[in-house]
Amino acid sequence: MILIIDFGSQYNQLIARRVRECRVYCRIESPEVDIDYITNLKPEGIILSGGPSSIYEKGSPKVDPAILNLGIPVLGICYGMQFMVSALGGDVKRTKKREYGFAELNIKEQTGLFKDAGKKTDCWMSHGDSIAKLPKGFKTTASTENTKIAATANPKKKLYGLQFHPEVHHTPKGTRMLRNFLFDICECKHTWTMKSYAKESVNQIKTVVKDKKLILGLSGGVDSSVTALLIHKAIGKNLTCIFVDNGLLRKDEGSKLKKTLKQHLDINIRFVSAKNKFLKALSGVTDPERKRKIIGKVFMDVFEAEAKKIKGVEFLAQGTLYPDIIESQSAFGGPTAVIKSHHNVGGLPKNMKLKLVEPLKYLFKDEVRLLGKELGLDDDLIWRQPFPGPGLAIRIIGEITRKRLFVLREVDDILLEEIKNGGYYKKLWQSFAVLLPLKTVGVMGDQRTYENIIAVRAVSSKDAMTADWARLPHKLLGKISNRIINQVAGVNRVVYDISSKPPSTIEWE
Ligand code: XMP
Repeated sequence: MILIIDFGSQYNQLIARRVRECRVYCRIESPEVDIDYITNLKPEGIILSGGPSSIYEKGSPKVDPAILNLGIPVLGICYGMQFMVSALGGDVKRTKKREYGFAELNIKEQTGLFKDAGKKTDCWMSHGDSIAKLPKGFKTTASTENTKIAATANPKKKLYGLQFHPEVHHTPKGTRMLRNFLFDICECKHTWTMKSYAKESVNQIKTVVKDKKLILGLSGGVDSSVTALLIHKAIGKNLTCIFVDNGLLRKDEGSKLKKTLKQHLDINIRFVSAKNKFLKALSGVTDPERKRKIIGKVFMDVFEAEAKKIKGVEFLAQGTLYPDIIESQSAFGGPTAVIKSHHNVGGLPKNMKLKLVEPLKYLFKDEVRLLGKELGLDDDLIWRQPFPGPGLAIRIIGEITRKRLFVLREVDDILLEEIKNGGYYKKLWQSFAVLLPLKTVGVMGDQRTYENIIAVRAVSSKDAMTADWARLPHKLLGKISNRIINQVAGVNRVVYDISSKPPSTIEWE
């Protein structure tokens, strides 16, 4: 296990991704963790991340310097390196010119971090401070034109520092350097697999939940489905899943999910049909934010009422993922900041007083998919595109009525079928249809029509923070448009959304 100390770098998740890609487990922790906590974790190595602060600034984040004397190998990256140097008696100074972007790295010896990294290689710099003087026992191991001490090492103490960022892909030999740190210097083993994770996680859930009851809100997405399978493996019948059909789902979604999950396991699922409640509360509402608030509130009312029917529940499980935790934990935040991440969990009713179980909270999305595969989840569910909680309500611009829901569902179903047939479903982050509150004139047969417009949206993205509109082939777009107009009564025009995020968003509302 590798411990990453988070000094606030925008690249922290990337460091964790790179380590996990090497099949080594890692955790990101705040610099405020105390030394006993660190020794208890028994990390094979420690990575001190970069960060936006200057080491000599008042209030800049610091970790207990005893971390450098545990005999555990440490790699400091950018600010992390400056922290290490400064804590051990070296000097860090502001550079005249901020260095940002590519630089050519001249490597002195191809050993340690630089084994097999060549003599010269590109590296990615992003710093305003530099090392002016190294502490005793350290030597310069690489430099660039602007930065004399671009890398340093004290091999005897297993302390290493890089001024540049090995985790970004602009440093082509970066992964090689990280691997050298993990496998040569820290002597890690490639043991991080989803098989081992599943086993460990099931044992942990058993220890925590024991013979008590647990409930889980099942949405039909990959995160909550994998959470369900994992917990079911641990506590069997004591898990009850609650699936709320809010009437805003895609065509046949509820029944498909029921079939998929039941097919595999004998999971206890309560399917609650609450369509009327949701539609009544949404009647006449057109404002997107009000739609979201109403849906959230009705969901909690329904979920709570259902949960109360199950006697003796003590735990509530959620499919929270690692990025949610990392994003809500600041470099300066202690445990209180971490708790904030849980509020997305849907504002749990306070009087429920349930203890939280979040078995995926140290996993990234692609790892959750691998874990789902390991647990035997259907490919259909594993590769399901994200679907927003408020469902079709935010894809019907304007008022939500049964009739408009029916039209959008039929259109959406055709669109997905064509996207899947064309081999694009897994390649796209999301693909969906939006029903506009506008009508235009058309002609069908010899008849004039005056019907709805559908907008088709298809985007590629890594994490939904940014997205690009998908360059789908014209032939496929033509087929989609043709089928929608011919097969769905009430639609006579289809347009394709060619905006990226930013400045647009993925959803239209
Ligand atoms: P935007 O539209 O903000 O969407 O670019 C980014 C991602 O978030 C999803 N999304 C939501 N998910 N509740 C959700 O659970 C919501 O209210 C919501 N709004 C947007 C969206 O589908 C996309 O994947």
